[in-house]
Amino acid sequence: MSDEADQGFLIVFEGTDGTGKSTQLQLLYDALRRKGYPVIATREPTDGQYGQKIRQLYKNREKYSSEEELELFLADRKEHVETLLVPALNRGEIILCDRYFLSTAAYQGAIGFDPETVLARNSFAPEPDLALLFQLPVDIGLSRIISGRGETPDDFEQDENLQKVAAIFTTIDRPYIRKIDASESIESVHQSVMEHVAALFSDSPYPALD
Ligand code: TYD
Repeated sequence: MSDEADQGFLIVFEGTDGTGKSTQLQLLYDALRRKGYPVIATREPTDGQYGQKIRQLYKNREKYSSEEELELFLADRKEHVETLLVPALNRGEIILCDRYFLSTAAYQGAIGFDPETVLARNSFAPEPDLALLFQLPVDIGLSRIISGRGETPDDFEQDENLQKVAAIFTTIDRPYIRKIDASESIESVHQSVMEHVAALFSDSPYPALD
């Protein structure tokens, strides 16, 4: 995404399940709001028509072919880009998005797609200005899901699958990716997030984040 085309920022939160990225997104959202920045929070899969189909897919993954699965995530993103992301960027807003196309490369890569081919199929979607990749051993993430949230892992959250997802996440190389050690305390992970965002704003018309 070039800064000439729009004035906003797209900050995406990526990683395997249970790494705490949604908690960190909320903390960043609150911090930016308090300081008066024009910030919005959103997520993928969305709550739109395709996002709802995807939530059905979590429960019955074997009923869909790999291609159908990938196409659903792409259709959901296309709708998200057109209806929310691009208009908000053009209004100069800061978007915090819980998961974006690196998740597609990693999760659909884990079922056999070449991650770079998946990324190429996302060329319609603006590149993030910053992708925070939360890293945590998969077994710890899963135990957070089971004990912390009292949830049963769904089809996407099985250990072997998530090991593959995590491995792909670490191999994707893009200049906007910043890796974050998610095993630290919530407060110290938040500090790391704030430092990366402050660095992003330092060279922009936005007021400095201190
Ligand atoms: P998640 O952020 O965990 O949402 P929820 O809180 O609704 O469970 O995302 C749901 C799952 O969707 C997650 O396991 C990763 C998967 N996913 C993909 O497989 N491909 C994608 O492109 C995206 C955005 C998510």
